[in-house]
Amino acid sequence: MAGLAIETSDGMVAAGVVGEERALSVSGDVRRVSVPQFMARKGGVPLVCLTAYTAPVARLLDPHVDMLLVGDSLGMVVYGYDSTLPVTLAQMIAHGDAVVRHTKKALIVVDLPFGSYQASPPAAFEAAAAVMSRTGCTAVKLEGGVEMADTVAYLVQRGIPVMGHVGLTPQAVNALGGYRARGKDDAESVKISMDARAIVDAGAFSVVVEAVREPLARELTADLPVPVIGIGGSPACDGQILVTDDLLGLFGAFTPRFVKRYAELGEAIDAAAAAYATEVRSRAFPGPEHVFGTKPRSG
Ligand code: KIV
Repeated sequence: MAGLAIETSDGMVAAGVVGEERALSVSGDVRRVSVPQFMARKGGVPLVCLTAYTAPVARLLDPHVDMLLVGDSLGMVVYGYDSTLPVTLAQMIAHGDAVVRHTKKALIVVDLPFGSYQASPPAAFEAAAAVMSRTGCTAVKLEGGVEMADTVAYLVQRGIPVMGHVGLTPQAVNALGGYRARGKDDAESVKISMDARAIVDAGAFSVVVEAVREPLARELTADLPVPVIGIGGSPACDGQILVTDDLLGLFGAFTPRFVKRYAELGEAIDAAAAAYATEVRSRAFPGPEHVFGTKPRSG
């Protein structure tokens, strides 16, 4: 069935093509933060960035942020894997598509998952092109430093904006030996600086710096000509990013030091489910207002 118009009470869902892949979308003007606009914020008002994986959450976050990352953290947060390594390109595309279709303001960046880009620059191009053409996102993010510089240059030269990610790089958890903060000694700090510089010299428009010593994040922000986005970085960074489920108190496995919880939605869900269970068992729910044919007919 094609061309079905569907409207919700807030009037946000536009006519869509039902029965095909890209069905419902937000209506109205889509005016996203562009890559040049994002880059122009270097040294200015800090860039507000969060992760998003689903349509309803993306729609709620969109008015408040400059950038939404469809992060491969979805593997742990949404799918319950114990690392990001099992995440597939198909999963990133499905979630990226949902987030793009239900936002109209934020720059959308989608992570390239483990194994989709490390083998060679052409493999990375194939993965990035699939993500961009099938989601409509503006840019991709990949992890790594000096060893990924050729790949970043290859993508950028072919029209793919790339965000880098250095410091604690979760896809390298096995090589790093865990999720501990990085840059604790001079050798590690020098390596992270060289990694960030290599990615930026290769053409990355921005770089995420995760879980490094504060002075190192501050120094990178001062030295690099592109926006440095911190997560466990420094208040001096050009922007901040958090995993949204961490900030909302929804991801209980562990809370890293760099997370500030702005809500306790896990507790709210627990309380709502408990109240529902009590009312179903006592037959308090559904009430007359929730069932059909209980109002007396008029006339
Ligand atoms: O996958 C992700 O959510 C990320 C952020 C932590 C930056 O890469």
